[in-house]
Amino acid sequence: MNIAIIGTGNVGGALATQWSKAAHTIFLGVKEVTDFKGKHLLQNPHTSVHTVADAAQQAEVILVATPPQIAPQLAAQMGNVAGKVIIDATNTINASPEGYPTAFHAFAALTKAEVIKCFNTTGFENMQQPDYGHVVLDMMMAGSSEQAKAITGRLAQEAGFAHCYDFGKADKVVLLEQFALSWINLAIFQGMGRDIGFKLVRRQT
Ligand SMILES: NC(=O)c1ccc[n+]([C@@H]2O[C@H](COP(=O)([O-])OP(=O)(O)OC[C@H]3O[C@@H](n4cnc5c(N)ncnc54)[C@H](OP(=O)(O)O)[C@@H]3O)[C@@H](O)[C@H]2O)c1
Repeated sequence: MNIAIIGTGNVGGALATQWSKAAHTIFLGVKEVTDFKGKHLLQNPHTSVHTVADAAQQAEVILVATPPQIAPQLAAQMGNVAGKVIIDATNTINASPEGYPTAFHAFAALTKAEVIKCFNTTGFENMQQPDYGHVVLDMMMAGSSEQAKAITGRLAQEAGFAHCYDFGKADKVVLLEQFALSWINLAIFQGMGRDIGFKLVRRQT
């Protein structure tokens, strides 16, 4: 699958690497193609660098892992993305896009893509390594397109997560951002450190 990675820092870099290992073709979408964070990602297989517009046009799936407030600007830059899947991994902890509660809402309003919230609820280290040895972490997603969630769920498993739980439709996106704050609270404010993650368990009947 052709995947654009817009935002090639901690989160974008981790997922670009996991998906390139899974034999996807990765189009890094950056502001300046000769000088960008995550240049080492070009050493990964099937990975090339492009403008945001070119990366988005070449891809079927577009991961956004940038500051959330630039979502409207990215929506304009990406051009026509009708029918593509945008996966929004951002969190509006410090700032939201002007006029929208989250980047998800901006992409849903400003593009004709199927927008899914995912990969926002855990630290990037857990995206580099979701396998804790005795247990493999889970991921969570929300969005209104079942087809796009099926694609996103497969990509979460290809990134190494055990399962990607469906939190529901677009009305659950804010809940997923609050879920992210729960991880941040434990890891940072309660001092547990970033090597923690979430796993859903179900009683056997
Ligand atoms: N860090 C985590 O553990 C974590 C976990 C879950 C979710 N998140 C969320 O994921 C998002 C990214 O976090 P991060 O830690 O990966 O941040 P980061 O390492 O600072 O990376 C942000 C990336 O966005 C790029 N960017 C900024 N403005 C851009 C623009 N106009 N066009 C194209 N690219 C642009 C930056 O490029 P330049 O450096 O060239 O500006 C950089 O590559 C945030 O919304 C964060 O809340 C983070």
